[in-house]
Amino acid sequence: MEKGWRETYKEKEFTIDTTKPSEIVVAGFEKLRLPENFKVLDLGCGNGRNSIYAATLGGLVESVDLVDLDFKKDIPEKTSGRISFHEMSVMDFDIKPDEYTAVIASRLFQYLTKSELEVLFGRIKEGLTNEGLVMVSYTASGGIFDKSDIHVLKYKHAIDEIRQTFQNNGLEIVLLEGKSGVATHVPYENPNETYGILIKRKIGA
Ligand SMILES: C[S@@+](CC[C@H](N)C(=O)[O-])C[C@H]1O[C@@H](n2cnc3c(N)ncnc32)[C@H](O)[C@@H]1O
Repeated sequence: MEKGWRETYKEKEFTIDTTKPSEIVVAGFEKLRLPENFKVLDLGCGNGRNSIYAATLGGLVESVDLVDLDFKKDIPEKTSGRISFHEMSVMDFDIKPDEYTAVIASRLFQYLTKSELEVLFGRIKEGLTNEGLVMVSYTASGGIFDKSDIHVLKYKHAIDEIRQTFQNNGLEIVLLEGKSGVATHVPYENPNETYGILIKRKIGA
């Protein structure tokens, strides 16, 4: 039976053990020229590993997740003061236009439906600055949870469908890296394709 994310975290079915930022997020920030107090949106932030990284680079970060893991209490005030956490669905968050130098969606897509992704990417496109990047990692097969005892809803999104969603919403891919069998922290014998993607606004879109 499916449970919500809150119960899943509470019952410790799923924990995020790493505090390292996602590889695609590190790669994305290396490509950006970062203005003073640049703005970042971290969608489905979990334990905040990517929000914290962006804040240490000098970003002002808005972090959104269905569950408040209270990650700000464990980090220095210098960093935590740069992060605002919003406990809500990414679908309900009001994305301000032309605001964000970086929008992070790390391991989130597989928990959203196709129609949610379509709506969300329209809003993300509006929220990005002209120079900004969306930094994505996602698992096309629906994620590492199929064979483990974790009961949240997950969806399969083939990479071609994801590409189409970007295209439909005036976004273009800057970098796409694919890997397989990367879920080393949970036993999983089948290869599962995981992608790191950087996306920007199409000129004129
Ligand atoms: C696999 S974790 C990834 C966390 C983090 N982005 C990372 O890379 O470590 C997925 C996170 O997405 C959150 N999530 C799932 N659906 C969501 C939604 N509709 N709105 C906000 N957060 C959501 C979950 O609560 C969970 O913290």
